[in-house]
Amino acid sequence: MALLIQRPNGTEDVIPKNIYKWHTIEKVAREVAEKYGFKEIRIPTFENTNLFLRSVGETTDVVQKEMYTVIAKESKFTLRPEGTAGAVRLVMQNGLLNEPMPQRLYYILPCFRHERPQAGRLREFHQFGLEMIGSKSPIADAEVISLAKNFIDRLGLKNIALYINSIGCPTCRAKYHEALKDFFEKDKENLCETCLSRLDKNPMRILDCKSTVCSEISSNAPLIIDYLCEDCSDHFEKLKGYLNAMNIEFTVNPKIVRGLDYYTKTVFEFITTDIGAQGTICGGGRYDGLIEQLGGATTPALGFAMGIERLILTMESQGCEFIEPKKCDLYLAPMGENALHRILTIAHGLREEGYWVEYDVVGRSLKAQMKYADKINAFFTMVLGDNELDSNKAMLKNMSTGEQTEITLDENFYYNFSNIAIAGMFRESLEL
Ligand code: HAM
Repeated sequence: MALLIQRPNGTEDVIPKNIYKWHTIEKVAREVAEKYGFKEIRIPTFENTNLFLRSVGETTDVVQKEMYTVIAKESKFTLRPEGTAGAVRLVMQNGLLNEPMPQRLYYILPCFRHERPQAGRLREFHQFGLEMIGSKSPIADAEVISLAKNFIDRLGLKNIALYINSIGCPTCRAKYHEALKDFFEKDKENLCETCLSRLDKNPMRILDCKSTVCSEISSNAPLIIDYLCEDCSDHFEKLKGYLNAMNIEFTVNPKIVRGLDYYTKTVFEFITTDIGAQGTICGGGRYDGLIEQLGGATTPALGFAMGIERLILTMESQGCEFIEPKKCDLYLAPMGENALHRILTIAHGLREEGYWVEYDVVGRSLKAQMKYADKINAFFTMVLGDNELDSNKAMLKNMSTGEQTEITLDENFYYNFSNIAIAGMFRESLEL
């Protein structure tokens, strides 16, 4: 049978066999974020398009080429291409700027960008991101970077390089833009059409154009780090000092400018070379002007986001351990209607105790039921027929060792099952 409609290009399904990889990332993300005092937020999947125009920036690739925008009853909405804009809108709209600062927020959510799909680059992808709002001190930058590093380490990832840079504030940026304009003016006729339009409006965006010709031209462009004002330079030096004090290795890469317009001062990326061209697993930085740009009082802030698909790809390629998926504790096989009635009570009781219990709901033969129990990797099976009901005893079979243990079907059943199960599972964990 041919499937008539396939999933859209650049999207992925996660089938039950693989979901534990996602659960591993999500569990560690929550644990690490909460250890640093971050609280989870949820934001809508779509926002008013203007939110992204004002924050991500009109001359960015994201806004110019990659947004999924719909017009609904004359309003324009966009599927979020990233989480920061929505998170900041949430903070402002819900009065969180009046709460004690800094606000520490994290999120795990899907994002949408109409990019050319390739390994590690999707049109729907997922981010674990966080934002710290309300501190202008470089110690906040160090704290956020150290959280990202701690998370990466907790996943067991190796050889992930941290690159940092400072892209200054509007004061240093003004002089830098002039220098960039002068530089690109010479090669103006070779720039792509999009970059030509960026030359006057926002020449820094030419630096992260994906076209080969523009990247070639950009390779000798002036560097923002040489144009930093005293305040930005001091901020950057202090951050480097804190990272050294925390024993976090980093390399200053003066070419990192990031693809979103809201950044000021510190920007950073964690990069792996193990998953091909799309090796940036984390990108972030400071955005001290964004809240003001969205109509609020000047409030410094910073954050980062990690691509969950890229994290999984890197973990797989490095052979990192994921949290083991659970398996069925007990498969109950009834023989006959009376046994089935008894099994319903037993299954309910064990599930109340927290066990994963299954029984036949298809009407299979006993042999087929055992085959099924084997397929789902059930830890124990127990067959219940008239004999067992009469004697009030049954055999609990450990499916990996074949060992059978008699168990009474009385009020001690749940207690006895726990003891046998714990002993069996403990033995298996030692043998592994
Ligand atoms: P970003 O660098 O655009 O930053 O994205 C963050 C991460 O999302 C990337 O490092 C990458 O791992 C993942 N990612 C981005 N695009 C794709 C894609 N098409 N397919 C798969 N993964 C992708 C931001 O989004 C900022 N909001 C981060 C931030 C938070 N800055 C401050 N706070």
